[in-house]
Amino acid sequence: MQTTSVSYYPISLREVKLKVNRKNGRRVRRKPSYPQIFLFGEDIVRVEGEIPVDLPVEQGQRFLFISHDQTILTHGLHKYPAKFFPELPRWLIKRYSNEGERVLDPFSGSGTTNVEALLNRRHSVGIDVDPFSRYLARVKTTPLNRDELELLELSRDKLLQSVLDFQPSLVGDADIPKFPYRDQWFKKEITLELAYIRKKVEELDADAGVKDFFKICFSSILRSVSNADDNCTRTVVRKKLNKEICPSDALTNFSEAVLINVPKMLEFSQRCQNAKDIFVEFPDNQDARSIKYPEDYFDLAVTSPPYANAVDYPRTHQLEIYWLGFETGSLTPLKKKHVGTESVSAADYRSLHKTAVKEADDVIAKIYKKDPRRAYIAYKYLEDMRKNLREVHKVLKRGGYYILVVGNNRIRNELFENWKYILTMAREIGFKVETYFASEIIKHFIKVPREERINTDWILVLKKSSSESSSGGC
Ligand SMILES: C[S@@+](CC[C@H](N)C(=O)[O-])C[C@H]1O[C@@H](n2cnc3c(N)ncnc32)[C@H](O)[C@@H]1O
Repeated sequence: MQTTSVSYYPISLREVKLKVNRKNGRRVRRKPSYPQIFLFGEDIVRVEGEIPVDLPVEQGQRFLFISHDQTILTHGLHKYPAKFFPELPRWLIKRYSNEGERVLDPFSGSGTTNVEALLNRRHSVGIDVDPFSRYLARVKTTPLNRDELELLELSRDKLLQSVLDFQPSLVGDADIPKFPYRDQWFKKEITLELAYIRKKVEELDADAGVKDFFKICFSSILRSVSNADDNCTRTVVRKKLNKEICPSDALTNFSEAVLINVPKMLEFSQRCQNAKDIFVEFPDNQDARSIKYPEDYFDLAVTSPPYANAVDYPRTHQLEIYWLGFETGSLTPLKKKHVGTESVSAADYRSLHKTAVKEADDVIAKIYKKDPRRAYIAYKYLEDMRKNLREVHKVLKRGGYYILVVGNNRIRNELFENWKYILTMAREIGFKVETYFASEIIKHFIKVPREERINTDWILVLKKSSSESSSGGC
């Protein structure tokens, strides 16, 4: 790439530090008050902050959980679509397992369940088909030892100095990754800054744990300095937004991310001092539909599977995937591995497919009339979820719980009540439905206090039968 003649704005580290201090100052914690009845069209129990382990829950009840912990410790290192708020898996883990037991998240995403399992002294495994997700989750669940923490602080200072020393001429062609549409996603001067930062992280004289942490800081700024919309899960350029990216933005944003995240990693590592005997694993080459762990191995499974037909994770994370070097070309093979994938071929949807779950098949038939492709995507999603339920049933201990947090959505304007179909399939596989209840999510961007402002996630508590004879029935 040709170096450009753009003049870079001088960076003031003092300004960046002041900004970080101001941001940290704004994060004042409110005192949790629980439980309050909160009227929102209907009665909803509002629980603010920590969720009490023994919170009374009735079947079908609706809760509004207000989270305070989304950015604490390593939870806030990186954005991730449909991420758990930490209080939820923390509560479920404490309520349904004991210290020293094994927890599985078969759709682990950014590893929120695993961070909470570790902090609460449970062993855990996270399965995700996406290499970027596994990488992020590993960084978030890997506390650094005392030597590494010293190196972390030294490396931070080194990187901040490197940022000040940036010159476009310090970046060679070989430092810049090649990937599809790169120059549409990033301005040339930003590409040079990013390539420089990435090189400086790679050159650090530090162990993999420290370098990986800084690579995640680097990854966390990619979307903000790209031409893509920051507030859309999919990576898309919206011309109307007129997003303004200036030279030096990548350098400034990276400095800010480092200054915000290093103290979080320090605190997380200190909090994990009492968990040195606890393991966390994110195995490669596993899939929620084919889990290679022994039968009766896990005490608890907690997860939020992808929504049917809602988030295209590889597309969402394409900038991170390319810059971190997980892929260089087409993302289609990765997309095909995802439950809920939209990468299906025309031969798949020449005819209407059925799941044998009546309620689901009725809706799928209606979708088929409008859009056969979408009908097949919905059908395949449920078949994949059935495979996942079977696999988790197999690897769970008798009497163990599988807790799924699932949302509904609309497909071609038909309500697809995912949670109901999953409950039916779970019963067929041999799970007992212990209970289910709702967690309401307020959409802050809709200002009016109406029903449309809230979205519902259903929390399904399934139990594997304790005795051999009753498993496998209906
Ligand atoms: C809703 S997200 C999970 C978010 C997670 N609870 C968190 O807090 O970050 C669903 C995840 O399922 C993963 N996924 C999709 N298909 C999968 C499959 N076949 N096996 C394992 N993971 C899969 C996606 O990559 C995505 O990370």
